[in-house]
Amino acid sequence: MEQFSCKTRIISGDGALRALGELNIRRLFFVADPYFVKNGVAQQIVAAAKAEKTEIFSKISPDPSVELAAEGTKAVQEFKPDTLVALGGGSAMDCAKAMVYFAGFPIRLIAIPTTSGSGSEVTDFSILTHNGVKHPLIDTILQPEVAILDNSLLWELPPSLIADTGFDILSHALEAYVAKNAGAVTDALAKDAFCCAFALLPASFSGNKAVRGKVHIAATMAGMAFNQAGLGLCHAMAHSLGGAFHLPHGRLNAILLPKVIQCNALIAGDKYARLARAADFGGAADAVAVRNLIAGLTRLRKQLQLPETLLQAGISPREVRAQSQQIVEATLADPCCKTNPLGVEGYMVHRILDGVTGRG
Ligand SMILES: NC(=O)c1ccc[n+]([C@@H]2O[C@H](COP(=O)([O-])OP(=O)(O)OC[C@H]3O[C@@H](n4cnc5c(N)ncnc54)[C@H](O)[C@@H]3O)[C@@H](O)[C@H]2O)c1
Ligand SMILES: [Fe+2]
Repeated sequence: MEQFSCKTRIISGDGALRALGELNIRRLFFVADPYFVKNGVAQQIVAAAKAEKTEIFSKISPDPSVELAAEGTKAVQEFKPDTLVALGGGSAMDCAKAMVYFAGFPIRLIAIPTTSGSGSEVTDFSILTHNGVKHPLIDTILQPEVAILDNSLLWELPPSLIADTGFDILSHALEAYVAKNAGAVTDALAKDAFCCAFALLPASFSGNKAVRGKVHIAATMAGMAFNQAGLGLCHAMAHSLGGAFHLPHGRLNAILLPKVIQCNALIAGDKYARLARAADFGGAADAVAVRNLIAGLTRLRKQLQLPETLLQAGISPREVRAQSQQIVEATLADPCCKTNPLGVEGYMVHRILDGVTGRG
């Protein structure tokens, strides 16, 4: 049996932000990445929302902590909003989603993503960090009621953020495509998101703003896919390494993805091969198509100036070795392992970690 559902109403394209004014917001709690408070965009969006009363919370920092979510929850409980709008990347949206989860009363949740990557605007996930470990909180309450994808928020994206978040899209799509709960609907979403992001990321990275709206929707589609199909070992390791070393989430996925594909190809080679052919990598035999897929991702990673190893990302082999046991344990405990196509064992995590450490 297969099922698919997504309660989020998705409003996209130029001028999508105007829809906010038609949502009858009375008391608005506005969680904004500080970047958009500094450049004045948050204030413009608040004005467009036409709420009777607004409170802005902008203490967001990358990889939000449980403590930050608790501080925001307290402010939400005091303000008692009917609607919470989250403006920012995965960090702002995840922190805002946790506030809605812990508030203890119903609040309408609206997400406005400003990066094209996390897919958090349509998922049941919120990733919070506690004591150097990233914990996914998973509940349908966390899925926003409305997601507004407005192209104008993407004009100032710096190339390195496009590269990092772009590899988050690609890993969501690839992991969802081979995940244990994948089905016909998630396959279609994942395949299209992967092909679109893979084809357009180089142009977006080099400054072509016209393609960014398409990459933005691809990120949302990949989010819809993995929300139902699940993720896998790449994300489980990206979470444990992100908690330990605070590198951008998408950059860690970029480092890990080729090695995880190599490992999972033992059991999911035919599906990877199908995706490789859909993305025009060619390869009549499955093993050749998988090799082409890995080579294509490695090439793109280089083109987007992303590191190949943790060492190239600034983490020394000594630091990795010192925390390797903790990283392996956190990976095995991460719920993303449950939907990896191949059962995850400690030796596999050690081997991949060794493969991405780099030689000093
Ligand atoms: N909930 C989910 O389903 C899910 C899925 C994947 C990742 N995540 C989480 O999302 C987080 C990463 O999110 P992210 O990659 O979107 O980055 P982010 O939200 O951490 O933002 C990174 C940086 O980009 C800046 N920024 C954001 N939008 C910008 C814009 N339009 N122009 C210029 N600068 C901008 C921010 O100020 C910040 O400094 C991680 O914590 C990760 O674990 C969540
Ligand atoms: Fe991700």
